[in-house]
Order: sequence, then C-alpha cells, then structure tokens
Amino acid sequence: MVQLDVIRAANTALFQGRPYTAVFTGATSGIGEATLRAFATANGAHGKGFRAYVVGRRKEATEEILADCSRLCPEGKFIFVYARDLALLEEVDKVCSEITKAETETVGRDSARIDLLYMSQGDFNFSPRRDTKEGLEFRVSLLYYSRMRFIGNLLPLLLASELPAHVISVFAAGMEGEFHVNDISIRDPQHWGTLTVRSHVCVMHTFFFEHLAKQHPGKLSLVHVFPGMVMTKAFTNPGVPLWGRVMFRISRPVLSVFSTPVAESGERTLFLASPHRFPAHRGSGDQPTNAASAGTPNLVVATGTDGKTGSGAYAVDIDGETCHKAKMIEKYKAEGVGEKIWEHTMKVFGVIASGNVWTE
Ligand SMILES: NC(=O)c1ccc[n+]([C@@H]2O[C@H](COP(=O)([O-])OP(=O)(O)OC[C@H]3O[C@@H](n4cnc5c(N)ncnc54)[C@H](OP(=O)(O)O)[C@@H]3O)[C@@H](O)[C@H]2O)c1
Repeated sequence: MVQLDVIRAANTALFQGRPYTAVFTGATSGIGEATLRAFATANGAHGKGFRAYVVGRRKEATEEILADCSRLCPEGKFIFVYARDLALLEEVDKVCSEITKAETETVGRDSARIDLLYMSQGDFNFSPRRDTKEGLEFRVSLLYYSRMRFIGNLLPLLLASELPAHVISVFAAGMEGEFHVNDISIRDPQHWGTLTVRSHVCVMHTFFFEHLAKQHPGKLSLVHVFPGMVMTKAFTNPGVPLWGRVMFRISRPVLSVFSTPVAESGERTLFLASPHRFPAHRGSGDQPTNAASAGTPNLVVATGTDGKTGSGAYAVDIDGETCHKAKMIEKYKAEGVGEKIWEHTMKVFGVIASGNVWTE
C-alpha cells in the first residue's frame, strides 16, 4: 500500500513544473468530485495554475463544486462542459469537439493539449438490460464505450502533452472473469448479469489500454482503478433496488469502517497520474524500476497488466498497488481476445458514427 504521505508528496510534485490541462468526466459527485478537489488542492498549494474541463449533466450542482474548487486554487480555470447523457457516443463526440475547440481557441493550435483525462461516469444499477438508441447497453456504454471514445477523440490533444499524458478510468480493475468472446455485447440473456458486465468491462479496459500504451510509447499512461468501497451516492441511486438501499442505510456505520473516506479516495486516485509510478511505455528500451523523485524517495515503478515494469497500461487498487489477474489475462491473450476487443470497439465506433444502430 502506498502511504498517504507519499501520495500527497507525489500529487504536489505533479504540478510543480508547469501549468496543467485536465478533463474530468463523472466528477460531479463521489470519487470524481473528490479527485477534482484533490487536483485543485494540490495545484492550489504549489502549482502553476491549470485549465480543467469538467463535464457534467447538472449545471447548477457542477458550478457549485467548481466555485469551491476555485477557492482551493484561485489560479485554476474551471470550464463547465454540459453533457446530456454520456452513455450516448454522439454526446461524447459533441463534448469532445467542444473541449477541443475551447482548448485550441484558448492557447492556440500549437499549445493545445490535455495532460490528464479522468473518467468515472457510471450508474450503479441493477435494472434489466436497457439499450440506448445507439444500440449499446447503457451501463456498459458509460463504463467502457463512452470512456474509450473520449480517449480516441481526445487522443491528438493527449499526445500533445509534454509529460506524457495520463488517463485514469475508475471502475473494477482486477475483476477479470468470464469473457464471452463470441458475444462481446452480451446479447445472450444466458450471459447477461452484473458480474458478466463487470468482467467484460474489466477485460476490455485491460486490452484496449495495453493496445494504446504500446501504440504510443513515451506518450500515454493509462490506469484502470478499482476504488474499493467508497461511501458515495452510487449506493443510493434509484437503480439500486429498494432492499439494497435499505440494507445500505442500515449497515452504513459498519461499512464505513472498511471503506476509504471519500476525500482520501480523491487523493489516491489523483496519485494515479504520477509519471514516476505509472510511466508511459518506453518502446523497445528497458523500463525503469525506480520511481524515486524529489519528495517521493521510496516510490517504485508499477507493473503493467502485461507483467512488465512500467509498461504503460496498469490495473490497480485504491492503494496504488497492481491488482490484475495475470494468469487470466495471459490466457485471453493467447486466445487472441485482445485483438478481438480492439476490432469490436472500432467497429462499434464506426457503425454508430455513421448514424446506424449497433445490433451485433
Ligand atoms: N463508490 C464505490 O464504492 C465504487 C466501488 C467500485 C466501483 N465504483 C465505480 O466507480 C465509478 C465512480 O463511482 P462513484 O461512487 O463516484 O459514483 P457516483 O458518486 O454515483 O458518481 C457517478 C458519476 O457519473 C455521472 N453519471 C452517471 N450517469 C451519467 C450519464 N448517463 N451521463 C453523464 N454522467 C453520468 C454522475 O453524474 P451526476 O452527478 O449528474 O449524477 C456522477 O458524476 C463508477 O463507475 C462506479 O461503478 C465505485
């Protein structure tokens, strides 16, 4: 477990060199909001200012959070970007165009960049399968397709970062399990279920991230994190059955003992943008093993999901430790699952971008 003082030092160090540009989705409550606050706090203490594009569907509530964050970091510039529903890829495309335009207009085409893309949009929901008008199951879309679409659309700006850029996706790292390679969309009712959704989204994150990390050596670090239990509004969503919400309220005092405090979850999640612990893939060169830097002398480089140190795609828990299931990933890799996931995802994007409904 990476100690909190090490994390705080690394978070502060993140901002010492230069101004920073970040995009946050899912940061209008819970872990995302806490990460945004940690970002503003760390930058406010020692940073050189930043631009943060914060995507949300509730304007007033988001603006309240942003006003608070402005107090934590007066040099920071917070830009609210409205999104009606991020389960729709057309909405993701619209939001990404707005961010790209705003960033380019603010600093010019040559300086436009994104150093951090943070994503945690999700709907903790046990309702039956429900497809969006684009043909994607809405939960899976929020957790996977929408997030990968953000990365794809913003890739030119991410690759323009001098740092390299970091991508953080909050969901269920380390929860690899059953994967139906001939039913990636989980259409077969026999396959459908909360655990299958979790496993599919996890496996797809792993292989999509590995592909991108290798495609862009030195430029991109991607981390999928399992946050453990954090007491957020996720547990009292209308999509959680009534008995679940009641159970949660009754057992909350006990659960609190085992959960990560919300503010700490934000600090720990921001740490995943550490270029020392989670570096980009280095191409053919040797990967570094020592992540020590000023203020964090004991830090070591994390192991990527391909089992190699510092290989650019990571699955970690909230303690900042690697948590992927190596044997299962190896097995899927040997079966060519990674290539199939990449092809599937690109096909989904192509079909929906051309105005058609995904039916496979
Ligand atoms: N909390 C935990 O213990 C825990 C454990 C394991 C995994 N996770 C995962 O971690 C992620 C974040 O969890 P959390 O606890 O921070 O949840 P949360 O407090 O419910 O936050 C979810 C965020 O997603 C946004 N969102 C939901 N549906 C959306 C939609 N259709 N379009 C746009 N934005 C949407 C919400 O916006 P609004 O503010 O407008 O609602 C909010 O900003 C989720 O993927 C969750 O499954 C959480």
